[in-house]
Amino acid sequence: METYRTYKPDEIGAAELQNIMQGSIAPRPICFASTIDKAGNINLSPFSFFNMFSTKPPIVIFSPARRVRDNTTKHSLENVLEVPEVCINIVNYAMIQQVSLSSTEYAKGVNEFVKSGLTPIQSTLIQPPRVKESPVQMECVVNQVVQLGNTGGAGNLIICEVKLIHVNPNILNAVGKIDQQKIDLVARLGGDCYVRANGDALFEVPKPLTTLGMGVDALPDEIRNSKYLTGNDLGMLGNTERLPEQTDIDVYKRMNKNLTEILQLKGDELVKAKHLMAQSLLINKDVESAWKVLLS
Ligand SMILES: Cc1cc2nc3c(=O)[nH]c(=O)nc-3n(C[C@H](O)[C@H](O)[C@H](O)COP(=O)(O)O)c2cc1C
Repeated sequence: METYRTYKPDEIGAAELQNIMQGSIAPRPICFASTIDKAGNINLSPFSFFNMFSTKPPIVIFSPARRVRDNTTKHSLENVLEVPEVCINIVNYAMIQQVSLSSTEYAKGVNEFVKSGLTPIQSTLIQPPRVKESPVQMECVVNQVVQLGNTGGAGNLIICEVKLIHVNPNILNAVGKIDQQKIDLVARLGGDCYVRANGDALFEVPKPLTTLGMGVDALPDEIRNSKYLTGNDLGMLGNTERLPEQTDIDVYKRMNKNLTEILQLKGDELVKAKHLMAQSLLINKDVESAWKVLLS
């Protein structure tokens, strides 16, 4: 049994808490928020305390926190309290260095579009401009701002309703849906770490069956307690509704020379070889054949 380190948030400092939470609640998507103050000064800053919370109505929330260092508030928060509008620009790999640059704590009134070299384009419904380089831009109105505290580190939930979405057609696939490879999203982790959601970093997990999968608890003991199969392997096997018929298992056995050889083994050697063979089939998402091996 692992000996976990257990922390009480009240008993550790904000910086340590931030390290634990930001290092583990990750990767977080990045909201690149363009806002404007009453005088018309534009601001552009990234926030990774950000996500969507409802589709209809389309609600997204981001949180400019009070600075841990000196308990001051961020310009983005001050701006939305003056003009309750924000353009949320989605961040991809091609723009991440400029996004990072715009998180520099420039003085109030400094326009980070200018500092970062990104291109403002006029929004249709709201005053803050969109970021041309961003693959998806959402024009939002701010419905509510919820202050979570008044000490350093306290977040401020800016609850936004999306009114208009602009999608760059270059990130769409042949049927007009967002292509997760083409959009090339990045997300923030702890410290200076980011992740690029592209290439081999992307993988698919089919949604659980709409019919009921049997669950890991219903797997035969020898499989559930296997020394070789992983939690992911058991999860895939548990997402099966019906086991293959004996006649299909027999056909598979006859056709598969490797399996026939494995079945000559005895005891632990047999279990190990069958489980490892099933595992390699699961890696290739062939759950049906994995079951045939395990039940042979
Ligand atoms: C990728 C990234 C994500 C960030 N996420 C947050 C966040 O969620 N909340 C926050 O308060 N600051 C966050 N920051 C820091 C702010 O962007 C930074 O304090 C910025 O200067 C705020 O600008 P403003 O005062 O013009 O609003 C983040 C910085 C980067 C680079």
